[in-house]
Amino acid sequence: MPDEKRDGKKIAVLVSGFGSNLQAILDAASKGQLTGTEVALVVSNRREAYGIQRAIDHGVPVVYFPLAPYTRAGRPRQEYDAALAAILRALAIEWVVMAGWMHVFGPAFLDHFPQRVVNLHPALPGAFPGTQAIARAYEAFQRGEIDGTGVMVHLVPDEGVDVGPVVRQEKVPIHPDDSLDDLKTRIHKVEHRLLVEALQQLGVARESFS
Ligand code: GRF
Repeated sequence: MPDEKRDGKKIAVLVSGFGSNLQAILDAASKGQLTGTEVALVVSNRREAYGIQRAIDHGVPVVYFPLAPYTRAGRPRQEYDAALAAILRALAIEWVVMAGWMHVFGPAFLDHFPQRVVNLHPALPGAFPGTQAIARAYEAFQRGEIDGTGVMVHLVPDEGVDVGPVVRQEKVPIHPDDSLDDLKTRIHKVEHRLLVEALQQLGVARESFS
């Protein structure tokens, strides 16, 4: 494949909140660590998500696409998934990165991007799926059930929650004197690096050696 074809592979980053992982991707791109990738779109399902501002600051187009109007109108969830997929496809998006995105997609979305949807989970494979994974790991540690936690980046093959082929995973220790905020900070630091490494490993991007 000629290099020009690989250059500018368009990705969409989906956020629901603070957007620090989006920022890690944007920073890596600015530093030349995601060569061949263009962050072509950010999608937020929440109007107040700070990730929207991060995208604007970086000059990346943003779509605010909430689920609530669909739910209120009694429209099936698949319609939301299909509509969002249509927006991304119209913009020639090739890869989708769920970076703190709080919806689970079904086939109406995923079938448009087979093996091309990446999710970040702040725990190890099989551990603490769903929301509040860091807090639940912290509590499990307090109860003596686990001695550490981790981060994983995986592909999203179906509507399973935080499951799918693992691209990268890394253990993160929990120390006895950690506060929950200490653990969150440690995990987010690993997430920001691991997500970028996963995109490089998947061939979505390549590290610049210049
Ligand atoms: C991350 O911890 C991610 O793993 C989880 O939600 C958090 C989002 O953080 N699913 P941010 O919005 O990227 O700062």
